[in-house]
Amino acid sequence: MKYASLLLVACAMAITACNDTHPNTDPTPADRIKAERSDNAAIESKIDELLSAMSLEEKIGQMTQITNAQIVTKSNWGNGSDLSIEMTIDTAKLGAMIRKYHVGSFLNGVAETPEVWYKFYKDLQEYNLAHSRLKIPIIYGVDQMHGPNYLAGGTIFPHAINTAATYNNKFPADMAHVTAIETADIGHQWIFAPVLDLARTPLWGRYYETLGESPYVASTMGSIFVKSLQTDPDIAPYKIAATAKHFLAYSDPKSGWDRTPVDISEQTLYEMHVPAFKAAIDAGIESVMINSGEINGEPVHASARILTQLLRDELKFKGVAVTDWEDIIRLYRNHRVAINEREATFMAITAGIDMAMTPYTTDFCEHLLALVKEGKISKERINLSVARILRMKLKIGLFENPLPRNDRFNRIGTPENRALALEAARESIVLMKNDGNVLPLSAGKIKNLMVAGSLANLKAPLSGGWTLRWINNDESLHPDYVLTPFAAIKKEFPSASLATTDNEIKSKASRADAIVVVAGEMPYSEGFGSITDINLPDDQLQTIQTALATGKPVVLVIVAGRPRIITSVYDRCKAVLFAGLPGFEGGQAIAEIISGKVNPSAKMSFNYPYAPNRLLPHNHKATEELLAHEIPNPIALKEFGTGMSYTTFEYSNLTLSDSVLTSASDSLTATVTVKNTGSVDGKEAVLWFINDEVASLTRPVKDLKFYEKKFIKAGEVATYSFTIKAWQLSFPDKQNNQRLEDGFFTLMVGPLKTRFNLKRL
Ligand code: BGC
Ligand code: BGC
Repeated sequence: MKYASLLLVACAMAITACNDTHPNTDPTPADRIKAERSDNAAIESKIDELLSAMSLEEKIGQMTQITNAQIVTKSNWGNGSDLSIEMTIDTAKLGAMIRKYHVGSFLNGVAETPEVWYKFYKDLQEYNLAHSRLKIPIIYGVDQMHGPNYLAGGTIFPHAINTAATYNNKFPADMAHVTAIETADIGHQWIFAPVLDLARTPLWGRYYETLGESPYVASTMGSIFVKSLQTDPDIAPYKIAATAKHFLAYSDPKSGWDRTPVDISEQTLYEMHVPAFKAAIDAGIESVMINSGEINGEPVHASARILTQLLRDELKFKGVAVTDWEDIIRLYRNHRVAINEREATFMAITAGIDMAMTPYTTDFCEHLLALVKEGKISKERINLSVARILRMKLKIGLFENPLPRNDRFNRIGTPENRALALEAARESIVLMKNDGNVLPLSAGKIKNLMVAGSLANLKAPLSGGWTLRWINNDESLHPDYVLTPFAAIKKEFPSASLATTDNEIKSKASRADAIVVVAGEMPYSEGFGSITDINLPDDQLQTIQTALATGKPVVLVIVAGRPRIITSVYDRCKAVLFAGLPGFEGGQAIAEIISGKVNPSAKMSFNYPYAPNRLLPHNHKATEELLAHEIPNPIALKEFGTGMSYTTFEYSNLTLSDSVLTSASDSLTATVTVKNTGSVDGKEAVLWFINDEVASLTRPVKDLKFYEKKFIKAGEVATYSFTIKAWQLSFPDKQNNQRLEDGFFTLMVGPLKTRFNLKRL
């Protein structure tokens, strides 16, 4: 005790002795440490106790994260479908990392069995607890991005671009819950999800990881995911920390390619990219991962403006800011804003990074130590990050429950969990067109259904990147129960035949009554999704043309992480489904929609582009439409928020409780009646858009403010309502001042429109 308080005094003296060199990051780290204290006294006193007991080296170790490939002798990476290989820890390597560098976090992996993960994590944590002086548990980070995608036997949900298309808030919660119960027990307590980057351009290869184009949808579903993941009662005694990534505006590079420069106005930043992160922070998210790219000439990892001023001071984030993969090194190796790794480390820490996903080496530790010893970075600055990291570890209960457990593996991949993923898949597939109600195909009328295309009998394209591996095209890794589109369709139409090549289509077509063509993309992740042409690849288009040339009715199913342009074949296909990346249960969901067992209810989560030079998100500006009048281009092939059903819904009686809002705190309620006028039951998501008719800054042509999905039986009626609060009509300027301006607003719902006025007295 005495020793500890002596040390505290010594530290305090050292702190005052060396100058804090932060530019523009007032208040001081010491002030921030105070301001960030939580009201949990036990946690805060534990942090105080550890901060005073830890050596500088131990503190820096807490700020370091290493990839698991650096500490295992073997893993299943690159080993096909043999899952028997254990991730055997190389104790010589781990020993140096724990004993010399005091590394406090590891990450990554591939889909291992629960038993393999359990043993690996137990060995890792036990080694750490046995060999580290203060026994601070390791926190393990994993990219479980659409269910537990790095767990063999885990339940795989649709990717986020599909989740958004459900317009059903049940699914982000279900996905979080299943991720939690399937992985918390094996030590996956730091989940690198949700992705809160906003879809802006389908040229970007990580488009499918986003919750679509609407900041409102991303904010709503993102924060539901965060709350569900971080507060799941069923994983007690464990808890999980979520990560909002990638802060910020990562998704809108000029070239469309991953990790390339973003030039963006501050106004757009606040209007489009901040809201989902703000919502996650307000929902209590424990960590944020940083955008690897640059914004307006400044790499985000070196930006005090973004990492401190915006993230901390404006958005009030108190958790852990972790770098993305190797991004400190990239400051000098790729961005060339630093002369070497030492300078890059100085920049990143000074800007506001708490933890470096180095992820291969411990050089970061050496550099940071030297920077503190040279007096370039203060000990208080180190304490600030370490306090945040320790708080995250304490809040999720790692100190009390550092070890995994293996007595609840019967909760993994259960029929119940898979049913949730199937339900999500069913509600995430958009029926884009359906000429003459060709769908559903009735098994009675269709004697010979041909299922065609090179993707038709593959499992991997249904789930895309981040499935079992970072990028996985190996069919044998997928569990047997996963059905390819063809296998699933064959269950609904037992006589269905397969034609994977164009020649097969030609030679078998005469016998077919209809052709389902499955076309799209093979899996990719990150930079591997950078493309030079947004059109559907030539070979895929050719297959569709071949099918169309047979004269048989063609149903096109797009399985892809983003909208590849299909305009040249769209009109001639009788029906088109955008299946996106529906996950392991996606084959079945596609088949059930084709057969009519399931009535589709998804709506586009983005504008499906019409032409390569018209990649217009739905929330574009009016001038972008006026210019289009010079050339006969529609806004989109299929617009955001639209999608068909096998029934028809008629909207009527749009009414407002009042037509004028008279103060900033006023509100009015809009209601609309929706009748299911068809002959089958169905779900209808009602989307409420607002347009600000005249404003001091240009406004998007439409802005989604609310959505709600209800089940309506054939012939029945449902009433939907939306309470519009005056503050929801405000918008940010470039300083993030919310401007609320009097004037008229158009409210749009389905095919109906009305106006109301904000007129403050
Ligand atoms: C990706 C992140 C991911 C991290 C760890 C990075 O390359 O950009 O999304 O969380 O790797 O795998
Ligand atoms: C890792 C991913 C990471 C990527 C970065 C891969 O080897 O498994 O997690 O995001 O490298 O490029």
